[in-house]
Amino acid sequence: MSSDSLTVVRPSLMAKSKSLLNQLIYLVAKVVSQRALAYFDLFIPQFGNKVEWRSGLGEALYTLYGLVRTLRPAAIIEIGSSRGKSTCAMALACRENRKGKVYAIDPHIANYWSDQETANTSFDFLLQRLRIYGLRDWCEVIRKTSGDALKVPPVTKVDFVFIDGDHSYEGVKLDFELCQPLLSEHALVLFHDSTWGYFPDDPNCRPGLGVPKFLDELRQSGYEAVTLFSPPGLTILQPVRGGFPYRVEQSIR
Ligand SMILES: C[S@@+](CC[C@H](N)C(=O)[O-])C[C@H]1O[C@@H](n2cnc3c(N)ncnc32)[C@H](O)[C@@H]1O
Repeated sequence: MSSDSLTVVRPSLMAKSKSLLNQLIYLVAKVVSQRALAYFDLFIPQFGNKVEWRSGLGEALYTLYGLVRTLRPAAIIEIGSSRGKSTCAMALACRENRKGKVYAIDPHIANYWSDQETANTSFDFLLQRLRIYGLRDWCEVIRKTSGDALKVPPVTKVDFVFIDGDHSYEGVKLDFELCQPLLSEHALVLFHDSTWGYFPDDPNCRPGLGVPKFLDELRQSGYEAVTLFSPPGLTILQPVRGGFPYRVEQSIR
């Protein structure tokens, strides 16, 4: 064998053994710990079988997990779970916190904002993922629209809301208004898909997406928000006009 062919063979051999090692590590994780499997599937998918999340969540995954770990909310409302990528990340964070529950609201039927090919199977897929990762105790799956689910809310106080359901202006406004009366003192409300205004030509940018318009209105009426410009955008809102007061004597709603 010439030295030339050696240099060609070696990297491919190395890649092969690396991939074998990855598969072995993933297999061990699968056998020994549901928790480890969840971490691999959500955060380092290159190790194992890629899970078919069919999700546009993007890097917001890390923010959701990190914020739930940081804030240790007792009750989380998620509007729009689909196959459960965001749901599993937040439920996993609750499990790590040994505190909290995700109330995961989604009708799980085909609609304009769902993945058309998997909308009718998303319910079973989500339940299966929660079971595989041992997260059933950290999540209540509510198969309803937000309007129906929050007529009689599953909890009276909510510390963290993730809105990723009906992305029309009217839909996102309704979701915010439905959650507002339930919010605890320092609750945060997160909106996914808030920066589509910057990518009008992207094929995933759907007509009728009203999140940016609604957030502009909230800001104009005095709400404080931070937007993370990692496409398709995640906005973190302090749902109090003027933001949370820094001094205790001002902190009367
Ligand atoms: C973009 S997907 C959610 C993605 C998910 N958060 C993830 O991490 O992959 C939007 C979901 O919102 C749901 N949806 C649409 N209208 C809704 C409503 N009024 N209430 C609750 N969910 C709704 C759809 O069924 C769809 O599954």
